[in-house]
Amino acid sequence: MNIGIIGSGTMGSGIAQVAATSGCKVKVYDTNHDALNKSKVALEKVLLRLIEKERIDETEKNRIQDNISYVNSLKDLADSNLTIEAIVENLEIKKKVFSELESYVSDETIIASNTSSLSIASIASALQKPERCVGIHFFNPAPLMALVEVIPAIQTSQKVFEKAVSTIKSWNKTVAVAKDTPGFIVNRVARPYYGESLRIYEEGIADFITIDNAMKTVGSFRMGPFELMDFIGNDINYTVTKTVFKTFYYDSRFRPSFTQQRLAEAGYLGRKSGRGYYQYNEDGKIDASGHPELVEGSHNTELAELIFNRVFVMLINEAADALFLNIASAEDIDKAMTKGVNYPKGLLAWADEKGIDWCVDSIDELYNEYHEERYRCSPLLRKMKREKKKFFS
Ligand code: NAI
Repeated sequence: MNIGIIGSGTMGSGIAQVAATSGCKVKVYDTNHDALNKSKVALEKVLLRLIEKERIDETEKNRIQDNISYVNSLKDLADSNLTIEAIVENLEIKKKVFSELESYVSDETIIASNTSSLSIASIASALQKPERCVGIHFFNPAPLMALVEVIPAIQTSQKVFEKAVSTIKSWNKTVAVAKDTPGFIVNRVARPYYGESLRIYEEGIADFITIDNAMKTVGSFRMGPFELMDFIGNDINYTVTKTVFKTFYYDSRFRPSFTQQRLAEAGYLGRKSGRGYYQYNEDGKIDASGHPELVEGSHNTELAELIFNRVFVMLINEAADALFLNIASAEDIDKAMTKGVNYPKGLLAWADEKGIDWCVDSIDELYNEYHEERYRCSPLLRKMKREKKKFFS
């Protein structure tokens, strides 16, 4: 299969590696010559590391590299069966590129976008044949993260959607199908992990180290929310939150936090700038000398439980609401959070375990305390409590 990748930045390079590893012939195009070069050099480095770790041998490295070529014109992607665009997140630029691309490729070529925040319907509208457009959303780093969200737009044909799903599966990825709505599954359902943690911090209930420790010790999350925001970059995470808030017509559940805005404004971006919520040493590790608690862990188990329960129930509420609004199936919502962001368990299965009654009562308690819309219980959870149902029986 011939694959065309448009944009050779972080995501385009990763996706090219995935496709080439699976035996596809991949052409990578970028308007920026340096970016193309960088992508080539980065792949060489990644593959050498895999040889060092004895995950691949020299022959496999050569095979993968031989499968990828780097091209200087969009026209060179003319013989692609599938193109995946991973350029700058700007609707007008994407539309222009899609429209030009369509003039070169055959009628059968599928034209996909890796966009995180734009609607697939809006991108597809740039095409003469919008039914050939579909969202194929990888997670960073693409070669390591198992999940890919496939998003059919209202224009997408069933044939194109099915072909996209089967192709991504053949690349050894786990597919979750999502409705064309802001944040798709993962970037929507994960919002409270950051938002509620920031709120707890802003209310002065706990400092961010205690909150991180609570999520890791009580909930077995691999990274605490503040560590994770520092890892993602406070500028990027803040922009995603802002976009989700705006595209949900300012639903207060998604309201961004001033704390994070100030960090982004100050240039405290996290690991990449050496300072975020934490200080980082030169090799990008948290400098624990200023944070003895990082070594010792939280001592107040009651506080840790309270923090975990509050963030956890807000995540469950968001996952339940995504199911309620048919954004994805229960299976795909759970798959998305475990394979896309490494949650220790699927949120809906976890809700079953904890008890639906407990979930509803805990959110209602928050609502009674604050009387804010953000703490309104999903109608689906309330119905399930009434009918004594579980997500998975
Ligand atoms: P990036 O900034 O690393 O790379 C973008 C590349 O596109 C650059 O090399 C740039 O030269 C090139 N480019 C810009 N305009 C172009 C044009 N008109 N034609 C061809 N190439 C052009 O960006 P990144 O992070 O790889 O993101 C790309 C897309 O993937 C965005 O839509 C983003 O929302 C999405 N995405 C990003 C994720 C991430 O964690 N970085 C995760 C999932 C999706």
